[in-house]
Amino acid sequence: MLNRRNFLTAAVGVAAATGLAACAKEDDSPAGSTSGGSKALVLGFSQVGSESGWRSANTDSVKSAAKEAGYTLKFSDAQQKQENQISAIRSYITQGVDVIAFSPVVVTGWDAVLKEAKAKKIPVVLTDRSVETSDESLFVTLVGSDFTDEGRRAAKILEKVLEKAGHKGAVKIAQLEGTTGAAPAIERAKGFKEVMEADHADDWKIVVSQTGDFTRAGGKQVMAAFLQSNPDINVLFAHNDDMGIGAIQAIEAAGKKPGKDILIVTIDGVKDGFVAMSEGKINAIVECNPLLGPQLMEVVQKVKDGETVERWIKTKEGDFMQDQAKAALPTRKY
Ligand code: AHR
Repeated sequence: MLNRRNFLTAAVGVAAATGLAACAKEDDSPAGSTSGGSKALVLGFSQVGSESGWRSANTDSVKSAAKEAGYTLKFSDAQQKQENQISAIRSYITQGVDVIAFSPVVVTGWDAVLKEAKAKKIPVVLTDRSVETSDESLFVTLVGSDFTDEGRRAAKILEKVLEKAGHKGAVKIAQLEGTTGAAPAIERAKGFKEVMEADHADDWKIVVSQTGDFTRAGGKQVMAAFLQSNPDINVLFAHNDDMGIGAIQAIEAAGKKPGKDILIVTIDGVKDGFVAMSEGKINAIVECNPLLGPQLMEVVQKVKDGETVERWIKTKEGDFMQDQAKAALPTRKY
């Protein structure tokens, strides 16, 4: 995964990849449509799936930004399966696209296919999620959020939520994790734990933690089981809004009040999350912005043109408490 040290390798990685891009342009015959006599840039994009409201907004953003930029977009939905993403990337390599972009479902297991892209001189841009690799030159840059920081922010905002609720005594936390092995699941858990262990070792405890696969159905099912095994849970930290919304249904079905009996912090900030927050059922949301399309297209163009780009282009995000929800709702873009 990316860290600050890796940032320093950007120039080298980009130089290598942009050189590769230039070769690809000469050697390959990209399948782009022509406009005004010049070939449109061809971008192969492999999306994780359609597991959440965040993902739908991200897909819409990528598609509309590619259209706006005049690129030929080859898009595939991997349905949360790594093997589908690897097949899609292989197909883009065979087709000789100009640039490949993808949001990796999990962090490990990419080196082989990324080496195939490198061998064919096709630069790879990561978006949303990062990978773990032994060879940093296998991708040019990541356009996406700092998930570890999102986890830290979730813990910090929980401090405010507890204070506002006048909570006294032990904080018994249930954690709904994202997809096992995915960067946001690993890093959000890490950031949250970091703050918890540093500042709340005596009073906070994660009593139960399991994946809900970033889906509403997963969140509902796992929360129902949590409530059976640990009926004294008083906080829920869900790695995304969708799992939080599913959990709310399970909490209500168990005869408890979400946002009161169980204080809830989620990540994303999709419209449905804001609706639940304005109804008093979610106490705070840490934003993770899915509207990455325009930034991604800019980077793709720069990579194709041989320009230097930063190793990690981070997304700007905010945090929201319940009392801000009603005012913010009408202006939410996703
Ligand atoms: O990678 C971003 C995460 O993936 C979002 O937080 C989640 O909703 C999505 O499924």
